[in-house]
Amino acid sequence: MDIIVNKSKGLNGSIEIPADKSITHRAFMFAALTKGKVKVSNFSKGADCMSTLKIIQDLGCSIEYLNEKELIINAKDAIKKPQIPLDCGNSGTTTRLMMGILAGQNFNCKLFGDQSLSKRPMKRVIAPLELMGAKFFHNDYKLPIEINGTKLNGIDYNSPLASAQVKSCLLLAGLNAEGKTSFTEPYKSRNHTELMFEYMGATIETSGNKVTVSKSQLKPVDINICGDISSAAFFIVAALITPNSDIIIRNVGINETRSGILDILKSMNANIEILDKRIISNEEIADIRVKYSELKGTTIQGAIIPRLIDEIPIIAVAATQAQGTTIIKDAQDLRNKEADRITAVKTELKKLGADIEETPDGLIINGKKELFGDCEIECYHDHRIAMSAYVAGLICKKPIKINEFQWVDISFPEFLNLMNGLIIY
Ligand code: S3P
Repeated sequence: MDIIVNKSKGLNGSIEIPADKSITHRAFMFAALTKGKVKVSNFSKGADCMSTLKIIQDLGCSIEYLNEKELIINAKDAIKKPQIPLDCGNSGTTTRLMMGILAGQNFNCKLFGDQSLSKRPMKRVIAPLELMGAKFFHNDYKLPIEINGTKLNGIDYNSPLASAQVKSCLLLAGLNAEGKTSFTEPYKSRNHTELMFEYMGATIETSGNKVTVSKSQLKPVDINICGDISSAAFFIVAALITPNSDIIIRNVGINETRSGILDILKSMNANIEILDKRIISNEEIADIRVKYSELKGTTIQGAIIPRLIDEIPIIAVAATQAQGTTIIKDAQDLRNKEADRITAVKTELKKLGADIEETPDGLIINGKKELFGDCEIECYHDHRIAMSAYVAGLICKKPIKINEFQWVDISFPEFLNLMNGLIIY
């Protein structure tokens, strides 16, 4: 599906952001480990989370939909050997977290994915899982991967990478391993797994950037999922850069390990108010009010990178409208996401008229530049590139065409409807 984006006169109104993708993956997978029934409320309907939901069904869970927003996962007969290879679709989180669950089972199985996922590196989880005793067959650490389930032993792993996917993979393997499993990372990545393990009764301890889990049985407790700050990010930036905007985004997860974008945008002079903070299912949430702002450039590096890793493409769009230079460093892992997001962002924003260059580990953007548009944008099979381009299109002088915009469905099928409800032309 190709779409045209026209210049907007502002965004106005209030929306509720759909459920968090990272937390939905975890809710589905962890429910599958409870041997009981778990009600999940407000889950993400994105294709990635649907890949996880299908896999837990292949592993013996049955699903009952109560209504559009609630379902019950019955894991009484899970986890058992799947009759077919498990399809991870486009989802890195599904693949890496499931590998942690499946490595310690008493059966063999196979994981595969789409073209983009089959190019992504899996050594980051295979290497530490092998230290725990896991057995895999693969070609150059890429999907398809065969897993020979076996008994695992806990390890104390020092990760060179700050990665919630690697951390969660090892913690999931650790739930079913002898002894303790510890994971230490150079900077703290998102901690949804730790919070949900705690919520579901696992034995888990956190000290600085080190997390330790002991063999535990997760308990079946109902889970209510907050809105996705990574989805809200596109609306936040759209309102900040489009003159006359004033919007409220309700029910957004503001977990500190995810909310780096709010800190960075505030340091860029953004008018963002955090309202009515509260807790649901062990996660902090709030409503966010955003008004058009005169932004200024900043430097983004080090410990904040994992706290905003998925938001860098949309932060780059904001930076094109910020006075001065924005430098993004220490983000080399962006090259291993659904696309090489460093090159993709540079190439597509340059087409629109931005002054942007890439470095091995980031981007340098000089603003404020008027974006001209009048061109065709590619998505690189990457939902976040698609949505970032859309937001940039709202301030381009001339319309832009975005090719294959359907990639948005990976995380945010409701995106266009919600945007259309706020945009004034
Ligand atoms: C995710 C972790 C991040 C993020 C991805 C989702 C998760 O990846 O980019 O979209 O749900 O754990 P890394 O942990 O590999 O950086």
